Amino acid sequence: MRTYLVTGGAGFIGSNYIHYMFRKYDTDIRIINVDALTYAGNLENLKDIEDRENYTFIKADICDKDAIAGIFAENDIDRVVHFAAESHVDRSIKDPEVFVRTNVLGTAVMLNCAKAAWELPDGSFRADKKFLHVSTDEVYGSLEEDGGYFYETTPYAPRSPYSASKAGSDMLVKAYMDTYKFPANITNCSNNYGPYQFPEKLIPLIINNALQGKKLPVYGDGRNVRDWLYVEDHAKAIDMVQEKGRLFETYNVGGHNEKQNIEIIHIILDTLREMLPDSDPRKALVNEDLITYVEDRKGHDRRYAIAPDKIRAEIGWEPETMFKEGIRRTIQWFFEHEDWMRNVTSGDYQKYYEDMYRNR
Ligand code: NAD
Ligand code: TYD
Repeated sequence: MRTYLVTGGAGFIGSNYIHYMFRKYDTDIRIINVDALTYAGNLENLKDIEDRENYTFIKADICDKDAIAGIFAENDIDRVVHFAAESHVDRSIKDPEVFVRTNVLGTAVMLNCAKAAWELPDGSFRADKKFLHVSTDEVYGSLEEDGGYFYETTPYAPRSPYSASKAGSDMLVKAYMDTYKFPANITNCSNNYGPYQFPEKLIPLIINNALQGKKLPVYGDGRNVRDWLYVEDHAKAIDMVQEKGRLFETYNVGGHNEKQNIEIIHIILDTLREMLPDSDPRKALVNEDLITYVEDRKGHDRRYAIAPDKIRAEIGWEPETMFKEGIRRTIQWFFEHEDWMRNVTSGDYQKYYEDMYRNR
C-alpha cells in the first residue's frame, strides 16, 4: 500500500485533494496529512474522512526539520504532495516575511527531509519515490490583455511577495532535480475555486458578502483577468502527473477559462438569484448595487492565462468542469455548509476584513 505525505492538507486545495484521493483509491492508499493549522487550515474540512484507518493527521510546521524528519523516519513515505504555503497575495503585500519563511524555507525542509529518507549510498534514489511540488501560474508574472499564454518555458517574472516566494520554492525544487536528480515534478496551476475555499479569495468572498447584502469590493477597474479552474480538476491533474508525468518535468495546469473579475461577480449574482428560492429572504439582498469599486491592489497583475498543451498531450489531462457548472456546485456547497462559513468568518476573520478593506 502506497503512503502519501500531504502537506497543507487542511487548507482549500489540500483538503479537496485528500477527498479526491480517498474517493478514487479508497483503502488502497494511506495518507498522512501534515499541517500547522494556520488561519487557513481547518480540520472541519476533513471531518468526514478523519476516522479512516488509512488516514493520519499530524499537526506540525513544515519549517520544523526535526518534526518533518521524524515523520519520514517513522513512516515509509512513497509520495510527497506539497501544498503547504502562505497563499494569499493581499496578505503577502502586508506581511511578506512569513511567505518567505513558509514557502521558501518550508519547501527547503521538505526537500531535504525527503532526500535524506530516499537517497541511497551511491547517490541514487529508492525506486518509485516521488515528490510533487504544487505551485502557481503567478510565478510567470503578468500578461497583457491580448498577450498570449503562460507555457512551461515562459521565463519566471514574479511580481508580488507571494509569487516571488513561490518562485523561490520552485527554484529550489528545480535545483534538487538538477543537482541530485531528486525525483520530483512541479505543477503550476491557475486560480482554483470550489468547496472549502477560505473567503479571503475572490469567489467565496463575493458569495458570502452577496448573501448578506454586504458590499462587493472590486479592485481597480475590475478588468483583471484570471483563468479559473474547478478545484477537483486540479486534484485530478496532480494525481495524473504523479502517475503518468515524466520525472523532473514541470506541467502547467489551467482551464482555458479566462474571465475578468467583474464578469465573475455578475455570474455569481445571476447564479445566486437562479438558485435561491423566492421564499429565501437572502434573495432580495443579492443585488448589482452592492458592487463597489475600491482602491486597486498594489502591483496588481493584469492577466494570467495557461495553455495546458503539455499536460494534455503527454498525460491526457483536461479540465472537465465547465465554469457554469463549477460555480453552481460551489454555491450549492456553500448553501449546504452555512456553519462552515460562519465558523471561519468569526473571530480573526472580522479583524482581517476590517484591516484589509477599511481604507479602500
Ligand atoms: P490555503 O491557504 O487554503 O492552505 C494552505 C494550508 O497550508 C493551510 O492548511 C495551512 O494551515 C497550511 N500551512 C501554512 N503554513 C504552514 C506551515 N508552516 N506548516 C504546515 N502547514 C502550513 O492554500 P490553497 O489555496 O489550498 O493552496 C495550496 C497550494 O496550492 C499552495 O502551495 C498554493 O501556492 C498553491 N496554489 C493555489 C492556487 C489557488 O488558486 N488557491 C492556485 C495554484 C496553486
Ligand atoms: P484572489 O482570489 O486573491 O486570487 P489571486 O490574486 O491569487 O489571483 O483574487 C482574484 C482576483 O480578484 C484578483 O485580480 C484580485 C481580485 N479581487 C477583487 O477585486 N476584490 C477582492 O475583494 C479580492 C479578494 C480579489
